[in-house]
Amino acid sequence: MKVLLVCVYQALAVAAWTSSTLSYPSHAPATPVFTASRAFPTSAFSSMYFMPRKQEAIPRPVVTDVDGKPFPDRLNNPASMPSSAPKDSGVLPAPQASASSVSPAQIHHEVSSTIRNTSMSSCSRCKKALRLGQSLAQSQPHKVPGLLIQLCKEFQYKQFGRNPDVNRTCELSYTTGGQGGVFTQVLSYADLSDESTDADYLCAQFFYGFCPMPEPAVLSEDFLNDWFDRQRTPPAHVKARSKDVGPSSHKNIQVLWTSDIHVDGRYAVGAEAECSYRYCCRSNSFNTSTFDAHGYLTGNQTVPPQNISTSSPYWGYEGCDAPWSLVASAFEAMQHLGGESGFDLALYTGDLVAHAQTWEESRDLVRYSESGLYDMMRHYLGNTTVVAAIGNHDSSPTEHAAPHALPDDRGRQFSWDWGYVSKLWQKEGWLNDSQAQTVRTHYGGYSLQPLPGLRVISFNTDFWYRGNSFAFIHTSNPDYSGTLRWVTDELQRAEDANERVWIVGHVLPGWDGYSSMDRPTNLFYQIVTRYQHTIAHMFFAHSHEDTLSVFYANSNGNSSSASTETSRAVGISLFSPSVTPLTNMNPGIRVLEVDPQTYEIMDYHQYYTPLQDVQNKTSTDTGLVWYHLYSARETYGNFSAAEKAGNYSAPVTLDHGQWPSWAPLNASFWASVSDEMLARPELASMFHARWVLCSWEGVWE
Ligand SMILES: *[C@@H]1O[C@H](CO)[C@@H](O)[C@H](O)[C@H]1NC(C)=O
Ligand SMILES: *[C@@H]1O[C@H](CO)[C@@H](O)[C@H](O)[C@H]1NC(C)=O
Ligand SMILES: *[C@@H]1O[C@H](CO)[C@@H](O)[C@H](O)[C@H]1NC(C)=O
Ligand SMILES: *[C@@H]1O[C@H](CO)[C@@H](O)[C@H](O)[C@H]1NC(C)=O
Ligand SMILES: *[C@@H]1O[C@H](CO)[C@@H](O)[C@H](O)[C@H]1NC(C)=O
Ligand SMILES: *[C@@H]1O[C@H](CO)[C@@H](O)[C@H](O)[C@H]1NC(C)=O
Ligand SMILES: *[C@@H]1O[C@H](CO)[C@@H](O)[C@H](O)[C@H]1NC(C)=O
Ligand SMILES: *[C@@H]1O[C@H](CO)[C@@H](O)[C@H](O)[C@H]1NC(C)=O
Ligand SMILES: *[C@@H]1O[C@H](CO)[C@@H](O)[C@H](O)[C@H]1NC(C)=O
Ligand SMILES: *[C@@H]1O[C@H](CO)[C@@H](O)[C@H](O)[C@H]1NC(C)=O
Ligand SMILES: *[C@@H]1O[C@H](CO)[C@@H](O)[C@H](O)[C@H]1NC(C)=O
Ligand SMILES: *[C@@H]1O[C@H](CO)[C@@H](O)[C@H](O)[C@H]1NC(C)=O
Repeated sequence: MKVLLVCVYQALAVAAWTSSTLSYPSHAPATPVFTASRAFPTSAFSSMYFMPRKQEAIPRPVVTDVDGKPFPDRLNNPASMPSSAPKDSGVLPAPQASASSVSPAQIHHEVSSTIRNTSMSSCSRCKKALRLGQSLAQSQPHKVPGLLIQLCKEFQYKQFGRNPDVNRTCELSYTTGGQGGVFTQVLSYADLSDESTDADYLCAQFFYGFCPMPEPAVLSEDFLNDWFDRQRTPPAHVKARSKDVGPSSHKNIQVLWTSDIHVDGRYAVGAEAECSYRYCCRSNSFNTSTFDAHGYLTGNQTVPPQNISTSSPYWGYEGCDAPWSLVASAFEAMQHLGGESGFDLALYTGDLVAHAQTWEESRDLVRYSESGLYDMMRHYLGNTTVVAAIGNHDSSPTEHAAPHALPDDRGRQFSWDWGYVSKLWQKEGWLNDSQAQTVRTHYGGYSLQPLPGLRVISFNTDFWYRGNSFAFIHTSNPDYSGTLRWVTDELQRAEDANERVWIVGHVLPGWDGYSSMDRPTNLFYQIVTRYQHTIAHMFFAHSHEDTLSVFYANSNGNSSSASTETSRAVGISLFSPSVTPLTNMNPGIRVLEVDPQTYEIMDYHQYYTPLQDVQNKTSTDTGLVWYHLYSARETYGNFSAAEKAGNYSAPVTLDHGQWPSWAPLNASFWASVSDEMLARPELASMFHARWVLCSWEGVWE
């Protein structure tokens, strides 16, 4: 096993430096390429609710919905932090006629005593409590949110320890419109019998370790034969045929790739930036060492300036989501990087909405962020088609998506969102009628041909995301939502039509359990292996970090069942750095250079803006300065040390130790980068190698 891959299994390789570190990399002086305007670009919006005179506050643009109606200023304004649950009604399961009636008080009593009964294992207690909850959820679903609030307070739910007042957090979180309605559905619809793994996954992943994780499932031969319609390996003619599917040209096409903007309209200049409880840079953030609020600040209560430990600056702050000032600067930089002719294509790999407490989010906030940011993309990128993916935050209740198969029409509870984005993307000119219809029927996913011979398949990854409670229903089926079936069918169509495919999604797959459920991940690996000749590239995000994943052939089962020999590398997924600096990242923007015939990536350029330069300033003379940080080929394309050690094994003859200029930066390239890192450890440390998924604390999902 290669050292670099040990902790993240074979799924993830290589390093993150670049935009993910707040200090300049000393070995590679970054080159300034663009200084954004100091002034806020009010002309990008129809009008402004508020325009500060200097940099004493963040401008507040008027964002209009897809029908042209303005969202009200109070929706997303630093001075109006919500202190109660959103008015969205929420969704409960329908009561089941066959369910026998139970007494809510009796269920509460039994659940409490079960949780306290230490003569049972924690796993048995968890499962028994879930089954008791299920009896109530199926007979009197409207009683469950209240019960959840009571239990949450009684047991001081430990996840809420990061909030100033656990009891209040319980009350605000488990409303029917928030987590309460969602959990009630999961309790009602999950298969909690011993034959199913739903209770195991819920108790292992959802309730943090009450049960051991179920063994990773190996997909059976029968299942895979059916899944791939008996064609388990790529047909010989597909393997043999040329990858040139696009028009011949000597000029690479330029593709913009951004992700994870997380615009925070409630970002308040001068608010507490180093706060004790999430989330910072808002009027209700405080640091207990300088201000003890003894609970939540509500309504218009704010922290006096002398009680702020670190004041939020105008351009944004590491640890906070992106204010409009930063977002506008990023769009100006993107426009500049596109040059006169603009980009040939743009990818947006999801997450527009700010991180916030669940009760601070709402359907309107999601629509506001979608309209505001996709309209900005249209404004700054002109006629360039943007292919976007739904992120886990682009939803309300946040993190969620429900499979169509839920009974009583509950499978349509997120249709308001898919319907909204389909209309919006169509308005921006990125989709036609039939593609918009696909967005509505495939949870926001769609498939299109933006360039001749290239098919881009964007799909909703919430169904393998463990933050989505609905993903715990019918876990033995690796594709209960049908999403991967649809992706597979699109891949088959592309293979038949001799198209090359880009896969676009938000939440990265992986076996580590950090983000994704193992069964859908496993199935996705089979799909990637089967369509390795058709898939030219995969694009995911979510981690906010500049990292990537190499897929190796035939890894059916678990992390250790795959061989990570470079010769077995079949697929490559890059993960995009974020625009939001929330996780101590500098905002990043990436530009891909793509071969117009094969749609393979020949190089990419990473740009970023070092926020620390403006962090301590109350006002700046210019806007943010954006730098070119590195070219992937230039930085990683030297394999001479691995070659010398006899460990270079990609099927490409090197050109004096270098990856030849004609060869793409494909899976073989990136697998070789890890071979080179073994032979030249300073390469790894130089790039601040960071085992993202190993050190991740799971705080910022
Ligand atoms: C605790 O669990 C054990 C084992 O299932 C059971 O025998 C006992 O009655 C339970 N005690 C209470 C107070 O529920
Ligand atoms: C929280 O709620 C529990 C259960 O209702 C109660 O016993 C406890 O006193 C409350 N804690 C605080 C700090 O109010
Ligand atoms: C609160 O402020 C103190 C003093 O400035 C600082 O040391 C500490 O890191 C801050 N706490 C948090 C959680 O940021
Ligand atoms: C605010 O700071 C002052 C000292 O500057 C301190 O006396 C006061 O207790 C602080 N307020 C709170 C609520 O902590
Ligand atoms: C704060 O809100 C309360 C009640 O909503 C209101 O009566 C009061 O005038 C407000 N104070 C300020 C300073 O706006
Ligand atoms: C954008 O598309 C419109 C409509 O097809 C066209 O009129 C316009 O010239 C295009 N703009 C640019 C900059 O290519
Ligand atoms: C939408 O575009 C696709 C090609 O990208 C085409 O096959 C389809 O017929 C178009 N649908 C409509 C309704 O125009
Ligand atoms: C992982 O897969 C390998 C080979 O298929 C198997 O031997 C091993 O028991 C599996 N490990 C786990 C934890 O399932
Ligand atoms: C990567 O590109 C090289 C050069 O075209 C090719 O030989 C190799 O098979 C490719 N690797 C994969 C995994 O497609
Ligand atoms: C910003 O101020 C903090 C606290 O005063 C200091 O620790 C930090 O070094 C300063 N950063 C820069 C880039 O000047
Ligand atoms: C490639 O790396 C080796 C060290 O392993 C170094 O000696 C050589 O100069 C590098 N080649 C280029 C073109 O940078
Ligand atoms: C060469 O590869 C082997 C097997 O992965 C590894 O054990 C060894 O450390 C590598 N040697 C160098 C110099 O990279």
